[in-house]
Amino acid sequence: EAIELGPYTHYMQKEIFEQPSAVANTLEMVFNAQSISPNLFGSEAEKVFFQTKSILILACGTSYHAGLVARYWLETVAGLPCNVEIASEYRYRNPIADPHTLVVGISQSGETADTLAALNYAKKLGHRYSLAICNVPESALIRQTDLRFLTRAGPEIGVASTKAFTTQLASLLLLTVTLAKMRHKLSAQDEQQMIMTLRHLPMALQHALQVEPQVRIWAESFAQKRHALFLGRGVHYPIAMEGALKLKEISYIHAEAYAAGELKHGPLALVDDEMPVVAIAPNDQLLGKLKSNLQEVHARGGELYVFADADSQIAQSENEHVIRLSEHAGLLSPILHTIPLQLLAYHVALVKGTDVDKPRNLAKAVTVE
Ligand code: G6P
Repeated sequence: EAIELGPYTHYMQKEIFEQPSAVANTLEMVFNAQSISPNLFGSEAEKVFFQTKSILILACGTSYHAGLVARYWLETVAGLPCNVEIASEYRYRNPIADPHTLVVGISQSGETADTLAALNYAKKLGHRYSLAICNVPESALIRQTDLRFLTRAGPEIGVASTKAFTTQLASLLLLTVTLAKMRHKLSAQDEQQMIMTLRHLPMALQHALQVEPQVRIWAESFAQKRHALFLGRGVHYPIAMEGALKLKEISYIHAEAYAAGELKHGPLALVDDEMPVVAIAPNDQLLGKLKSNLQEVHARGGELYVFADADSQIAQSENEHVIRLSEHAGLLSPILHTIPLQLLAYHVALVKGTDVDKPRNLAKAVTVE
């Protein structure tokens, strides 16, 4: 292969560890700037953003999960209504178009057939403006949108997406902050604070990667299981979805993600000592709710594997294993909590001896329907 593996065994492993630099490259223009400018998204962006009253995100797979995270940010920080749709569903519905809705296509490859078709369909329906968040400058997606932002993750070889996802999240957070600024939701001081927060991200990712030795130990027992449940709440629910997707893609363990509040509406019936439950437990405003969900798992003899913040105050016990990241990272938290989930999937796949970079039946880009 043209791209060297260097000290790594797999491209996926290399790409997981490249995330601090991939994100730093993606946000480089912001790091060097004193303020945030809509021009980062193209010369027409200022005009388009002024007219934008809501957002429609179209994507597939991991890119769809990035969109789901962005919805929480766009609502909370920019005060913008946001819909996130699976491209292959959207293109066959009869949605109602609105010229003031900005359509955002998210795609690593920029060649996913359903995402391209959904975007075209949205235009045909009467959506006026579109923006691409994409990793490949010469892709079809980039050519068919009015605005664009390139994730500068570099080539991603592993079929299971890692650095493309975190750079998409970084880009979507930047989009959120830009729209918030234009909608007068940020004071000059808030804007400076946001720039500082974004500058801190590569270092915070580097720190999150340090949990690897602890995750490796968990992977040994995980690899013996046939099913796993991933729980999260709020902005971390899509991160649970992404964690479950990573595990099933490369280790072939059946993994499902649930919004923790839905536990008692079904999945609790599955919980026993054969079903590990992974929970994402950052110290945010939903932590108290999540803890009572975890208690329900505990009471049914389930085995919990919790990724918490240093200040989440969740104690280890016989059936409750805890790995702590740094203190709660606010808006960056979903990006940071992605890292241990990628590492978990990777190490479980290693124990199982599966083809990490080329999992069976999957393709890097799905260019046919
Ligand atoms: C395939 C890949 C996934 C990716 C999805 C969407 O299923 O295996 O990793 O998330 O396509 O691809 P895109 O290039 O549009 O982000």
